[in-house]
Amino acid sequence: MSWFNQTFSSTLGKKLIMSATGLFLILFLIGHVAGNLQIFFAEADNGRLFNEYALFMTTNPAVKVLSYLTYISILGHVFYSIALTQRNKKARPVGYSVENASANSAWTSRNMGVLGTFVLIFLVIHLKSFWYEMHWGGIPVQNYDGQEVKDLYVIVKAAFSQLWYVGLYVFCMILLAFHLSHGFQSAFQTLGLNHKKYTPLIKKVGMAFAIIVPLLFALMPIYVYIQSLG
Ligand code: HEM
Repeated sequence: MSWFNQTFSSTLGKKLIMSATGLFLILFLIGHVAGNLQIFFAEADNGRLFNEYALFMTTNPAVKVLSYLTYISILGHVFYSIALTQRNKKARPVGYSVENASANSAWTSRNMGVLGTFVLIFLVIHLKSFWYEMHWGGIPVQNYDGQEVKDLYVIVKAAFSQLWYVGLYVFCMILLAFHLSHGFQSAFQTLGLNHKKYTPLIKKVGMAFAIIVPLLFALMPIYVYIQSLG
């Protein structure tokens, strides 16, 4: 077996890939939430800036590279989480008793797989609603100074005018918050960045990130829904 295969099939190798892909996805979430903040102001220009931003994000070559890295990171993160779970099951087929498990680790850390599965289900629904529509859907087109731009804002508004869909997003953002609350600091720990002085700071930053980012994401559908009422 080559050095490469040996490294990436070991438990540590798998954990390192989980951390690296997880950290990249954290960076993606920061960019995604920042870009989507435009939703709070989009009604003022009927979604023009938001639509132009979406066009830029799907056509700019540098952003395209980042997009492919995001897709690879999602697939890698999911694949290696399954591989690690299988390996852990094989190593410990009986499992810990519930009492011991609670004493040893927090609820979130023990349920990362379940939380991650729900985040993945959310992602499939989310990508079908917006990303798929943007790339391959037959969405209406706006003409901005002679340039034809897909009106993704109309799709976002239609999706978030349904209460059940807003509820689904809010629920999934709560699960994402729990997933991130453990994932953030765990990624740093796996990468060996364990330090008396910095670890408490990383934990605090991680907790703030895990609350603020999903909260902002959850406020978007709520805001658009309230707007759709009046
Ligand atoms: C309510 C908040 C959100 C809104 C309004 C939103 C909006 C959008 C829109 C309009 C697109 C399509 C634009 C494009 O293809 O570039 C998109 C793509 C995407 N979204 Fe979201 N999003 C939200 C939350 C999330 C969350 C929480 C995640 C991850 C857990 C996520 C992951 C993605 C991914 C991976 C893509 C594809 C990006 C790419 O092709 O580079 N989104 N989102």
